[in-house]
Amino acid sequence: MAPRVEELNLTNCKTYLVHIDGVAVLIDPVRERVPTYVREIEARKLRLIAVLETHMHADHLMLSRDFKQTLGAPVIMHRQSPSPLVDRHVDDGDEIELGSETIVVLHTPGHTPDSVCYSMPGAVFTGDTLLIGGSGRTDFPGGDAALQYQAVTERLFALPDDTVVYPGHDYKGQTTSTIGAEKRQNQRFSGKSRDEYVALMGALGLPSPDRIQQALQVNQSGFEPDEVQFPLVRDVASVPEISATDLEAELRSASPPVVVDVREPEEFVGELGHIPGSLLVPLDLLQLRLPKLAGYVDRPMVVVCRAGARSASAVAILKSAGFARVQNLRGGMLSWSDARFAVQR
Ligand SMILES: [Fe+2]
Repeated sequence: MAPRVEELNLTNCKTYLVHIDGVAVLIDPVRERVPTYVREIEARKLRLIAVLETHMHADHLMLSRDFKQTLGAPVIMHRQSPSPLVDRHVDDGDEIELGSETIVVLHTPGHTPDSVCYSMPGAVFTGDTLLIGGSGRTDFPGGDAALQYQAVTERLFALPDDTVVYPGHDYKGQTTSTIGAEKRQNQRFSGKSRDEYVALMGALGLPSPDRIQQALQVNQSGFEPDEVQFPLVRDVASVPEISATDLEAELRSASPPVVVDVREPEEFVGELGHIPGSLLVPLDLLQLRLPKLAGYVDRPMVVVCRAGARSASAVAILKSAGFARVQNLRGGMLSWSDARFAVQR
């Protein structure tokens, strides 16, 4: 028996309920529709075992802390996701058990660095990596058209032709496609070289989605929209930044920078640990604790979070409070950990 797949939103932004043997996963839920999902899950007498996100979304609000509790299931995302609300980080090839079925994670960066597709026999949930006759835009921060071309043509197009494609969006009322149909008919990829694809994506000139900045900031920080009292950083790359390698060297110098870690306390002592000697000031408390940091106002300072997104907001806060020598750790603790520099837990 194959799992049953149901799309629950019936709009151009798609959420899938996938179930078999009385257990279910929910893929890409939209925050304001959670009460509906709960009713749908109860009506089918299913037990929700996980929430799977295909990537850090920029066009809708993802689960809040409260709605996570309402759904009562762990949230799964790729390890490069900046969100503090993820319970299980996965990487390419990891498996998620769903009853008698196994869902395999395919890391397919391009739309975002943390984009994944969830694959199981006969079906693949492609998020915004592959759309029906299209593909997700690659002009958001961290987007990369060349990587997306590679992910689609080498990973997704390697799946059997009859694999059903369930996209994250569709703007023309279409519901599903197949890998075979996309290989033949998707004009973005069919007969196109990687360079042609990169040129095509670079020339799309799409407008920004409504409220993208708020959606990104809320989704990246895990705070509620009314709690987001920090400055909006339009472009993470616009704040001064330092690489993990340079920071590690500077920490060994005669005048090391102060390192301020703006993650949640659980993350500070969690899997990635923290940079030895760093000060923990969670982003939501930063504004309040500025007086305590006043002694460091003339010192070089580096702000750190998981992936470098929340810390970019912190840099903006600190700069406007007069901390002139503040920098963002590029790629956050993920890049520090990838470089295998020392951490404390
Ligand atoms: Fe997206």
